[in-house]
Amino acid sequence: MTFPLPHGLPGLFIALEGGDGAGKSTQAALLCAALESGGRTVIRTREPGGTAIGEKLRSLVLDHGHGQIDARTEALMFAASRAAHVQQVIVPALERGDVVVCDRFIDSSVAYQGAGRGLGAQAVLDVNLWATDGLRPDLTVLLDVEPAEGRSRRTTGAAAEDRLESEPDDFHARIRAAFLDLARAEPERYLVLAASRTPEDLHRSILGALPRVSA
Ligand code: TYD
Repeated sequence: MTFPLPHGLPGLFIALEGGDGAGKSTQAALLCAALESGGRTVIRTREPGGTAIGEKLRSLVLDHGHGQIDARTEALMFAASRAAHVQQVIVPALERGDVVVCDRFIDSSVAYQGAGRGLGAQAVLDVNLWATDGLRPDLTVLLDVEPAEGRSRRTTGAAAEDRLESEPDDFHARIRAAFLDLARAEPERYLVLAASRTPEDLHRSILGALPRVSA
């Protein structure tokens, strides 16, 4: 796959990625608190969502009960939410020099829609690079979780699982492999950590990786 150049804006863009139940929200909260206590202005956000239209798209694409959603429609809904998020929230924050900590970004679409739904990694990447005008994170933290472990770590319980979470373990195994492939293709942009480590230990490793992107 081919990748565009980094964004060149004054802020710092960090994405957290991983399968469902990897512990991204816990790490996002710890990371934001640490950055704020270091004096940085931090925007914590998530995908799908992060804008008014994005939150509407989030419930349309994740909640059960909207009838059939085919794979291409699903991919475009995530990409549409992302386009609004980049334009309205992420780029303005990076232009101000803020740190953006985003729970999921393009790699989630490449993994879930590209590999999970079988649309193909390059096709999904291309659609998303168009949607975001080529914006990529400075650092992507991948919390690597085995599907069975992720399932047992989810706090919601089976009845509350969204449309993607409720897919079977082989779907989640394809997603895990796709995330690891992305990390292997761009090792300088990735920090891969086993999600089974303690939250404190993971947090220390994430903080330890920041100097390489924020110098
Ligand atoms: P997330 O917000 O991480 O889930 P939770 O509600 O448990 O915090 O993500 C919601 C779901 O959307 C998750 O199963 C992954 C999926 N997803 C995609 O399939 N493609 C995408 O591009 C994104 C951002 C998320």
